[in-house]
Amino acid sequence: MTAEERPTREPSAEETGVTVPAGLPMQVPSAGLPREVRIHEVGARDGLQNEKTTVPTRVKAEFVHRLAAAGLTTIEATSFVHPKWVPQLADAAELVPLLADLAEDPGMRLPVLVPNQRGLERALEMGVREIAVFGSATESFAKANLNRTVAESLAMFEPVVARAREEGLRVRGYLSMCFGDPWEGPVPVAQVVSVARRLHAMGCTELSLGDTIGVATPGHVVALLDELTSGGVPVGELAVHFHDTYGQALSNTLAALGRGVTVVDASAGGLGGCPYAKSATGNLATEDLVWMLHGLGIRTGVDLVRLSSTSAWMAEQLGRPSPSRTVRALTHREQ
Ligand code: HMG
Ligand code: MG
Repeated sequence: MTAEERPTREPSAEETGVTVPAGLPMQVPSAGLPREVRIHEVGARDGLQNEKTTVPTRVKAEFVHRLAAAGLTTIEATSFVHPKWVPQLADAAELVPLLADLAEDPGMRLPVLVPNQRGLERALEMGVREIAVFGSATESFAKANLNRTVAESLAMFEPVVARAREEGLRVRGYLSMCFGDPWEGPVPVAQVVSVARRLHAMGCTELSLGDTIGVATPGHVVALLDELTSGGVPVGELAVHFHDTYGQALSNTLAALGRGVTVVDASAGGLGGCPYAKSATGNLATEDLVWMLHGLGIRTGVDLVRLSSTSAWMAEQLGRPSPSRTVRALTHREQ
């Protein structure tokens, strides 16, 4: 990494205007919840993939470095998909080398999205150690996102997962449209469980249940988790991925924690959306998640001031305020 590419020093609290009220949130644990949660940060991938204006590669590298400096240890960096499908992430091969210093840290995980064998080859060439394939519970989204039927996309993933596992990589399996689909409406729980079990049987080491368009509600989350776990997928291999379109992401997360889930996807500053699901808005904001988890006395390892400073900085880069309620409150900005 050249001096120019190296991230700049962390801005001070005065510079970013981020202050957390002393002693808040008060820590009041609640029974039946985990003591620790691993946040799977998706801001640099899910957050940026929908941005119309191309974010320079060095800004993305700085974003990831700042997220790491804020204590996040799983940071989804980019996607090795077809560049025409997601132009914003066409610079994946330029970005990954800029993260080499982070990749050297054994405690740091930098997964990337890979849809097919071509994507896996590109990722392996860059020395990537963790990938995610991304399936759909519905035919409409499989077609829109992968140009494949559900069955064809599972057939496309099979050799990717097998080869990645042979190479010793961790493989996450995303499953989109688990709670509703913009074209098909309600998605039966049994349909989701059937595709999830296929991804699990294929060798995915973790399954992330995606509420791509943010329509889930807590009872639905519990029903799906219960069906999956009673169907043989251990809760320790499940993660949840909520978008906040209808303001349900935190309630849904709390419901999932109550069922024993300990991996939660979130996006710094609430960035996000999906280019192939127009009704998808931002992900659950990492700051909002951290505020709730810390209030519940659940460890995350995340420094909320540094994280909020990062999101405020990224919002400036994008020329748009952060949608995160916590970032707004901590920066005292009427954004
Ligand atoms: P396709 O057009 O069917 O591709 O797209 P193909 O297999 O027919 O190949 C056509 C050409 O593309 C070939 O080149 C391939 O080599 C090339 P040619 O021989 O014509 O010169 N190609 C590639 N080039 C670079 N990298 C690759 C690659 N693959 C093929 N990996 C494909 C099929 C899967 C490639 C395409 O549909 C695609 O890239 N889709 C990605 C869409 C995407 O990234 N969506 C957003 C992520 S999903 C999401 O956000 C949801 C999530 O957040 C969870 C949630 O919220 O639910 C994860
Ligand atoms: Mg998503």
